[in-house]
Amino acid sequence: LTEKVERAALALRSARAPLFLSGAGISAESGIPTFRGADGLWNNYRSEDLATPVAFARDPALVWSWYNWRKRLIAEKQPNAAHYAAADISRKIPTLLAATQNVDGFHAVAGIENILEMHGNIYRTRCTACGDITENRGDILPTTPCATCAEPTLRPDIVWFGEALPANVLQPIYERLQICDAIVVVGTSGSVYPAAGFAVEVRRREGHVIEINVDEGHGHYANDIYLRGRAGEILPRIAELL
Ligand code: NAD
Ligand code: APR
Repeated sequence: LTEKVERAALALRSARAPLFLSGAGISAESGIPTFRGADGLWNNYRSEDLATPVAFARDPALVWSWYNWRKRLIAEKQPNAAHYAAADISRKIPTLLAATQNVDGFHAVAGIENILEMHGNIYRTRCTACGDITENRGDILPTTPCATCAEPTLRPDIVWFGEALPANVLQPIYERLQICDAIVVVGTSGSVYPAAGFAVEVRRREGHVIEINVDEGHGHYANDIYLRGRAGEILPRIAELL
């Protein structure tokens, strides 16, 4: 593994246009369940049953109670060594563009200022009447009035299944992918697009794909440097070589 860690650090240091992408696995060691791992249920609900516009239209109280439960669970947890190592790497490699599929906000807490949150943030609400987006740390009900327009039309500011990702997040990622010569992919199963396609694109242009994952690797990524193990153990080892 040491030789691969050294190769990964070298590839990152020499990259002209590096990109970082993380998934639920980077938060696993913070005690937040991933989705497709063994603990694949969130409070006995399957998220494709609740993290969808249809579920919210049908039963907004249930979907809000589920997100309120997840907010409370995440609020009790902390970023782990992997998040802090990612922040260290982003300081040592100022050109690094960092994106996450997670909604727990831990990358920003750990110190990555300009993290691109592809799927939104569990603490933010969006008003479907006036568009106001604001932080809401407490429980939300379908009757909770919007702070701006007072309508009871708040929803989680999270990208649900079947929804488009925000353009202001995707734009910089796609621009970077045009020239990306090294991507670090941490803790993602590569089962949801567009994120699942990023590493494939980098490999297509002969860039380095540095994948960190506890399992045996995926057909999705023709990964270049596959570091098998926990993000909390491997990312710090890469960071200290930079
Ligand atoms: P998921 O990982 O729950 O996926 C649920 C299932 O839906 C999967 O089997 C997947 O194959 C399926 N699916 C994928 N795309 C679909 C689509 N377009 N339509 C219908 N089904 C689809 O996701 P989740 O846990 O419900 O994620 C909801 C939110 O929670 C996401 O924004 C995700 O990023 C987030 N999340 C965050 C963390 C974290 O912040 N640490 C951890 C896990 C999930
Ligand atoms: N270190 C590194 N990798 C880990 C760790 C760990 N400690 N623990 C788990 N993993 C890996 C798992 O092997 C798996 O490949 O993290 C990955 C988690 O995959 P998922 O649970 O599918 O989460 P993610 O890839 O983020 O899902 C992507 O799909 O459902 C949508 O929007 C949802 O953001 C989510 C997206």
